[in-house]
Amino acid sequence: MAAPTNLNRRIAIIGSNGQLGSDLMKVMAGRDVVGLTHSQIDITQPESIKQALDLYKPHIVINTAAFNRVDDCELHPEEGLLVNAAGVCNLAYACRAFGAALVHFSTDYVFDGLKTEPYTENDLPNPISAYGISKLAGELFVGYILDRYFVIRTCGLYGKKGSRGKGGNFVETMLRLGKEGRQIKVVNDQTLTPTFTLDLARKVAELITGERYGLYHITSAGECTWYDFALKVFVFAGIRADVQPISSKEYGSAARRPRYSVLQNLRLMQAGIEDMRPWEEALRTYLAE
Ligand SMILES: NC(=O)c1ccc[n+]([C@@H]2O[C@H](COP(=O)([O-])OP(=O)(O)OC[C@H]3O[C@@H](n4cnc5c(N)ncnc54)[C@H](OP(=O)(O)O)[C@@H]3O)[C@@H](O)[C@H]2O)c1
Repeated sequence: MAAPTNLNRRIAIIGSNGQLGSDLMKVMAGRDVVGLTHSQIDITQPESIKQALDLYKPHIVINTAAFNRVDDCELHPEEGLLVNAAGVCNLAYACRAFGAALVHFSTDYVFDGLKTEPYTENDLPNPISAYGISKLAGELFVGYILDRYFVIRTCGLYGKKGSRGKGGNFVETMLRLGKEGRQIKVVNDQTLTPTFTLDLARKVAELITGERYGLYHITSAGECTWYDFALKVFVFAGIRADVQPISSKEYGSAARRPRYSVLQNLRLMQAGIEDMRPWEEALRTYLAE
């Protein structure tokens, strides 16, 4: 019998009804895949992880579960640490015990944003928020515990399902506010790369077919501020909206965000995988769908 490749191995997706998880479910539909929602697995509970892995016996576990409300994390760091650090640590140990590879998602917020050009996987993280710290701790646990893992840092996610943790996505929020005809104030001093979850899911599906394990940045191409992003949403949607740029200070969030957190998909290129398309193109597709 031929040895299984990652292509025909069983995959379990944790957070399968989340924003990214639901698009991963979509693109993996032809494979041997099982989706796990929070009611079926709780990564903060080692026993719950063990039961799920016992039952489904996946070769690859994809973890999209996170506590991702950045400002709440600042106010209640223990909640972020419980899921993003301790939960991921539990999961990594369980994967090691079961001999499963782990695919885990992290964030551009592990960086301090002081750079003026895109961060590569070789840049040293230096988070400036409790959320960033908790996500970096999760990354470190994965790398410390496992040999067969993919840690994928991404940025500015939006997808059809909307973020469960954050209650929607930026594009839909802008469209709703725009239709209500109110003045919209959007931060113009944080530069990022909006990334469509369906594009990300397709790239992840391709990457994990091989066995080039390690840390990867995967975002759409290009960069913009949240304000530029909002303007493009309205242009592409054909909505006239009153959008005003403001500073992060004026916006006044509990947590600090990096002022520049664009990621370069360097290792993806080195793995011979075609780069992601420009964010504007992806946004057009999202809005058309
Ligand atoms: N959203 C962004 O802009 C962004 C940017 C960079 C990186 N990321 C990372 O990308 C990943 C996916 O984000 P997303 O936007 O798809 O998030 P999401 O829509 O909030 O999905 C997270 C999923 O995880 C589940 N979950 C939460 N706590 C859990 C636990 N303790 N055990 C098991 N499942 C749990 C949630 O279920 P319930 O809702 O039922 O609790 C939900 O299904 C996360 O790792 C996030 O940190 C996101």
